[in-house]
Amino acid sequence: MRLKTATPETIDEAAACLRGGLVAIPTETVYGLAADATNGAAVARIFEAKGRPAFNPLICHFARAEDIESAVVTDTRAQTVAAAFWPGPLTLILPRRTDCRISELCSAGLETLAVRVPAHPIARALIAAAGVPLAAPSANKSGRISPTTPLLVSESLGNAVDMILAAGPCAVGLESTVLDLSGDTPTLLRPGAVTAADIESVLGYRVEDGTTTATDKPKSPGLLLKHYAPSIPVRMNAIDLEEGEALLAFGSVKFMGIRTGGAARDLPPERVRNLSPRGDLHEAAANLFRMLHELDRPQNKGIAVMAIPETGLGLAINDRLGRTAKRTD
Ligand code: TXA
Ligand code: MG
Repeated sequence: MRLKTATPETIDEAAACLRGGLVAIPTETVYGLAADATNGAAVARIFEAKGRPAFNPLICHFARAEDIESAVVTDTRAQTVAAAFWPGPLTLILPRRTDCRISELCSAGLETLAVRVPAHPIARALIAAAGVPLAAPSANKSGRISPTTPLLVSESLGNAVDMILAAGPCAVGLESTVLDLSGDTPTLLRPGAVTAADIESVLGYRVEDGTTTATDKPKSPGLLLKHYAPSIPVRMNAIDLEEGEALLAFGSVKFMGIRTGGAARDLPPERVRNLSPRGDLHEAAANLFRMLHELDRPQNKGIAVMAIPETGLGLAINDRLGRTAKRTD
């Protein structure tokens, strides 16, 4: 891991590192653990570095407000709050465009994407130099608090990050406000420096408080989030196929048979996806949500998934598949 003070030269170095690598970056809220959001394998490395065996959707950081238009669908509400609070500590949840180039791993399979234009000049200079939006959760190991100084980042992540771009302590020190604008009612999912009252004053109407239940007990972020699940059954650790099932493979399908006769390798192409023919877990994570969506068709009776090793990113992949398997049993 390289800890470098931000200068024009080290910003260029960080931009080069972001072609596949992970860089901890300063923002005005907290330090972020950034990867090229259009590179699924790089985004997969974020989850590995955080050491969390589950995929949560990530915030995508853009240099300018107009840049989000290529990734998400905006409306007047989004344009109004963006004009009022960006660049700044506000994240908007918006529907993904159908031609969105951002990795589906950033959305964890959901049809929405979290977008934000940070105010920190170093963050914006780096995004511009990288030429791609940056996916970045807070730069801490899972279960630790969000780091607000370069030293806290290096203590938490150590060599799990390729480079830390250091620019002193974060001015806000608290994660961005998360506002869900993907539905009819604007809903606050996480409180932050931009308050519900601030948002209401520019929108001219009420924002629903999604951070509390009717009894005013705070909900955990995990409970607020609806996870993606296919609409057909998912069967894990499959060693053969049932008639009518689609196959989500990992590694070679050479020895995979169909119970009623025949071999999986002879299935029509639309019934088979391979997460990673060479058995690479980064590639598998990067492909997971897109391939699930592609096999999630009413013509298929279910999705049989080959065994995926319970190590590294395999834990997160199995965690997500396991939840969908339970849900649809
Ligand atoms: O201030 C911040 O927001 C920092 C800096 C680095 O930008 N980032 C940050 O990211 O706090 P993270 O991953 O620690 O928190 C992102 C939050 C999570 O609660 C996540 O569930 C939610 O945003 N989120 C992301 N995408 C979402 C989506 N499509 N739908 C609903 N919630 C989403
Ligand atoms: Mg966090």
